[in-house]
Amino acid sequence: MFRIPESLATLGKERIAGCPVEGFVYGEGPKQPELMLVGEAPGEFELIDGIPFIGRAGTELMKSLASIGLTRQDVYITSAVRSRPYRWGTKKERDGTTTERKYNRPPTQKEVLAHAPVLDYELANVKPKLIVTLGNVGLQRLLGKSATVTTLHGELLERPIQYLQELEDRTFEWTEEKYRIVPTFHPAAVFYRPSHRPAIEEDWKKIGQFLKDYGM
Ligand code: URA
Repeated sequence: MFRIPESLATLGKERIAGCPVEGFVYGEGPKQPELMLVGEAPGEFELIDGIPFIGRAGTELMKSLASIGLTRQDVYITSAVRSRPYRWGTKKERDGTTTERKYNRPPTQKEVLAHAPVLDYELANVKPKLIVTLGNVGLQRLLGKSATVTTLHGELLERPIQYLQELEDRTFEWTEEKYRIVPTFHPAAVFYRPSHRPAIEEDWKKIGQFLKDYGM
């Protein structure tokens, strides 16, 4: 199992302090795995158990992995941000009363930058055969804002990725090394856009095939 140094987790927590986020979920998986999955940020359920992708989206993701013969144990799972971004909202109870509760939300660029050193370290040290980005946040963290999942999903890309050269930087630099990346949709996409399901299944077939074809 690979785990980031405790000092780096502390740095991540310090850098994101003051943002509306809570908790810190470590990336999880073996070194030199078949795949490294880069998501968005943990949600409510991940925070409870400290395990990435165990909520509803996680169940979908595990089905996709199973479709190419892989399990959670075979892959390294991480995300652009390691704390849960939340917003306060009003929940209507069945009895008509309302309560204030926290809802998940996508991370901001400021939060992505705050946790960039954590993902940079994982990218430099986990050494997966292939990186799969799940949704636009993970994809754009690695390939910049011009990359979009709708145009690039299912393609095998071999490109430099973004990293933070200095801790104070607000813009990313490009690595000299190239990484193999296949973008696909975030597994939660099927909940709000069920019509995406066939494209996601097709992407995962391709990912399985890339691993085979390239002797990866
Ligand atoms: N979405 C993510 O990106 N990561 C999780 O752990 C859960 C949902």
